[in-house]
Amino acid sequence: MSDWRRAVVTGASSGIGEAFARRLGADGTDLVLVARSADTLQRLADELGERSGVTVEVCAADLTTPDGCATVAARLADDTAPVDLLVNNAGIGTSGAFGSIELQREVDLIALNVTAVVRLTHAAVARMRAQGRGGIINVSSLTAFQPYPFGANYGASKAYVTSFSKALHTELAGTGVGVLALCPGFTRTNFQSAAGISRTPIPDWLWLQPEEVVDEGLAALAAGRSVRVPGAAFKAWAGLTKVVPDALIRRALASVGHRRH
Ligand SMILES: NC(=O)c1ccc[n+]([C@@H]2O[C@H](COP(=O)([O-])OP(=O)(O)OC[C@H]3O[C@@H](n4cnc5c(N)ncnc54)[C@H](OP(=O)(O)O)[C@@H]3O)[C@@H](O)[C@H]2O)c1
Repeated sequence: MSDWRRAVVTGASSGIGEAFARRLGADGTDLVLVARSADTLQRLADELGERSGVTVEVCAADLTTPDGCATVAARLADDTAPVDLLVNNAGIGTSGAFGSIELQREVDLIALNVTAVVRLTHAAVARMRAQGRGGIINVSSLTAFQPYPFGANYGASKAYVTSFSKALHTELAGTGVGVLALCPGFTRTNFQSAAGISRTPIPDWLWLQPEEVVDEGLAALAAGRSVRVPGAAFKAWAGLTKVVPDALIRRALASVGHRRH
């Protein structure tokens, strides 16, 4: 059984967001699924409704746009069927030398990875505070722990998400509303191919499955944590970034980035 009655999951049409939807649905949580691919969401909604008996709404929205965010924000503010869990998961990456990537892709990345997270969290926090209970999981990344050469804008967007989430976790202490920055490393989804990132230099054993990321995220939120890095190897990396000088880590990441681009 889930702790949550109804969840909004963004980016639910694939990868980590789909895994959140499947896990929450199986646990008995009603769902509002958000992404641009309406047909894919509808198929998932039908499957989960049939299999788990939960109520599943589909909300097709492009979260790089103010209108798309406003549609989802309105659903979060609707108290006829209140939402108690928001998973801000939709995100995109860009990869390559900054300046060689089309500006619009970088601007869209900020709109989705940062602005949409702020807009939806703003809508959810007001409602959840009034309810005296709620949870927000913001899917960040391991790249949040240090600047990320050859993924500079992506790393900066995730540093924003982690910093924002940690601050809110503290602001909301004692209100019944928990906030978690979930920071996965390499996870097997469509993300790398959509971002133009080569998978070849990354050993097979290092990859996480989306389900592992979801399990750790939900457990960490339930435990009242502010940040969670899923998987032992990635936890070790996050620990290293606290003790190894930032300039050294940036040089190492840059040399890997140089070879890939
Ligand atoms: N996979 C990894 O290695 C990894 C590592 C660290 C962090 N993350 C983070 O994990 C999150 C989920 O990514 P994933 O790995 O599951 O990738 P994914 O399989 O590519 O899923 C991305 C999701 O975001 C949705 N999306 C993309 N653009 C959108 C837009 N403009 N409006 C609304 N929804 C949009 C996509 O659906 P539509 O195309 O249907 O809109 C899809 O459901 C992201 O925030 C990513 O940064 C991933």
